[in-house]
Amino acid sequence: MQQLTYGKSFEAALYIHIPFCRHMCLYCDFAKTARWQSTEVNSYFTGLRQQYGLWKNYFQQLGVKPLWKTVNFGGGTPSLFIDHLCQFLAFVGPDCQADAEISLEANPLDITEPHTTQALRQSGFNRISIGVQSFDPQGLKTLTRDHSPTTSHQAITHALQSFPHVGIDLIYCWPQQSLLQWEQDLQTALSYPLQHLSCYNMTYAEGTPFGRMVRRGALTPHVPDREAEYYNLARKYLQGNNWQQEEVSNWSQEGYACKHNLCYWQMEPYLGLGTGAHGFLTNIASLPQEGIRYAYHSRIHKFCTHQHLPPQTNPSLIWDRRERSHWMLEYLGSGLRTAQGICFEKVTAMGFTFKPTPFLEQARTRGDIHWNSKYLQLKPQEWFRETSWAVECSRAFQDSSE
Ligand SMILES: C[S@@+](CC[C@H](N)C(=O)[O-])C[C@H]1O[C@@H](n2cnc3c(N)ncnc32)[C@H](O)[C@@H]1O
Ligand code: SF4
Repeated sequence: MQQLTYGKSFEAALYIHIPFCRHMCLYCDFAKTARWQSTEVNSYFTGLRQQYGLWKNYFQQLGVKPLWKTVNFGGGTPSLFIDHLCQFLAFVGPDCQADAEISLEANPLDITEPHTTQALRQSGFNRISIGVQSFDPQGLKTLTRDHSPTTSHQAITHALQSFPHVGIDLIYCWPQQSLLQWEQDLQTALSYPLQHLSCYNMTYAEGTPFGRMVRRGALTPHVPDREAEYYNLARKYLQGNNWQQEEVSNWSQEGYACKHNLCYWQMEPYLGLGTGAHGFLTNIASLPQEGIRYAYHSRIHKFCTHQHLPPQTNPSLIWDRRERSHWMLEYLGSGLRTAQGICFEKVTAMGFTFKPTPFLEQARTRGDIHWNSKYLQLKPQEWFRETSWAVECSRAFQDSSE
């Protein structure tokens, strides 16, 4: 991995978190609120600009200049504020690569009119990811969504007319969902000429209403073995229709892998802006080789109060400097559930040597894991269990400096 020295462009991904939603979905664990006023939103976007400028100063002090390979607006529901997004994009545009992937997450309700998707496209967005979740009315009701299958249909149709790269998000294994219902959702998704499909296994995070309902027995999740059945059904169905699996939850048509996601999975640097957003800075000569992580506090008020303060002294931002072994474990956790796998060149540059353990040798004989001189790759059926694999594999990577 080449480290950057003074004056060089710092190629990275840019993530901007928009924490406002029209409605709270009871399963959602992202930093968001449904109680907001437009004055607060205006001041939040002003804060994002201010923070962006302060980060640029910070990079200047480190002797590098950012050049964004990808820009992604996530949330929350960024699509509620099309004008703000377009203005913010124009603001950061001079720091983007000419062929940068520029994307947003959209709620179907926000893009039911063709002029909306056209305006986004004209402003420079070239990728859109629509939160469909399910085409099944029972699924939408269970998931407490605020849109109908017809709204999703309109949104997808308009997005496909304006964008070269359209993806949708589906959630599977929601309570009471049958395998047949899941297959029907996949069938409906594939009836559109989409470029990308995210299929997320339903999670019940602590602190969400769904998480609490599960704890008190008011909601019954599928058991883990059943979840694997749903995952394998998606794999069989999508593979059979020539879709490529990039990662445990992400599928694309050939040539349409999401570049922004790849940055996260391959431990490439990214700048996160806004409440709850994370960032990972690496490949800059004056920073530690294993990089530095940070996270913004998830309270909007805290972000807005400190929006004028630089990253080094901003109390709404928590820096996290970890050991190199953490870097390795994190890379294993994200890389092992991707088609690309773990890149040995990267691992060696970080000072680790691969010495397969007897466990890994046996797993290789069984065909669960594979390695050559360049990559370590887990078979896709096992991506679902990447946490235990990451722990096993970490025993095979020795820190050369010890
Ligand atoms: C942060 S959301 C943003 C999308 C947009 N706000 C919407 O809901 O339409 C990104 C995606 O995460 C997925 N997601 C959120 N909570 C989830 C959960 N508890 N289990 C599985 N997937 C989840 C959904 O598919 C969602 O579209
Ligand atoms: S799933 Fe999307 S719309 Fe629903 S609360 Fe979460 S971020 Fe908001």
